[in-house]
Amino acid sequence: MPRIGLIGGTGIYNPRLMEQTREMVESTPYGEARVVIGKSDGEELVFITRHGAKHSVPPHLVNYRANIMALKQLGVEIIIATAAVGSLHLDRKPGEYVLADQFLDFTKTRKTSFFEGNEQGVLHCDMTVPYCPLVRTAIETAGQEIGLKIHNGGTYVCTEGPRFETAAEIEMFKMLGGNLVGMTSVPEVCLARELGMCYGNISIVTNHAAGISPNILTHAEVVEVMKNSTHDVRYLIKESLKYLGGPRDCDCSRISKQGGLSES
Ligand code: HPA
Repeated sequence: MPRIGLIGGTGIYNPRLMEQTREMVESTPYGEARVVIGKSDGEELVFITRHGAKHSVPPHLVNYRANIMALKQLGVEIIIATAAVGSLHLDRKPGEYVLADQFLDFTKTRKTSFFEGNEQGVLHCDMTVPYCPLVRTAIETAGQEIGLKIHNGGTYVCTEGPRFETAAEIEMFKMLGGNLVGMTSVPEVCLARELGMCYGNISIVTNHAAGISPNILTHAEVVEVMKNSTHDVRYLIKESLKYLGGPRDCDCSRISKQGGLSES
């Protein structure tokens, strides 16, 4: 069974790091997810394109629950997710990589939990440390090994989208301690936690955020910067896998059990 799942964000549509791939649709109680299963250095992986083929699903309409549940059903314990982000500070530049360690949630309309009462019950998950430290360390170590500039740590502000932010919103996010702004990490990371999975984020800075960038922000700009990063991101993920083979000696799987319910 695949132990590691990859969620490709904007610009990462093709899991070229895998061989012997097969595509399938995984049905879950929350809807269907299209997945690609393949092998990298003998290890089986599952890949999901977050926005669907050709970026056809906007961030506020992604079926996050179906994607995370599909990975869980397929046996995944560890998720590495990529995300294009704007940087709130001049010292994090387009083309650089940041491994988020915290988030601020400014989403509005999303289904944020698998537990809605009734037969599933209610679960209150600890989110003190939302992104798995072991996964972050693995990616950081791999990045150092292959000579990529990676910042380990940063607060990801998740907005609802699909519009970009106002300059005033970005000012506010900066005052609140945000470093990066994107539209997808929440609720993905929370849903993974509810199912006891480790979740790590690779944020790829594609632009300076609204009011910092001198340009009008466009999706085309984001895609253009991502084009130059896809090769490195794939290589980074492939190398990170080497450091994720050990026991999951972190709190990610323990927390959902302590929240009052056992893992599904
Ligand atoms: N804001 C929100 N999401 C983003 C941005 C941004 O500036 N850049 C890439 N994704």
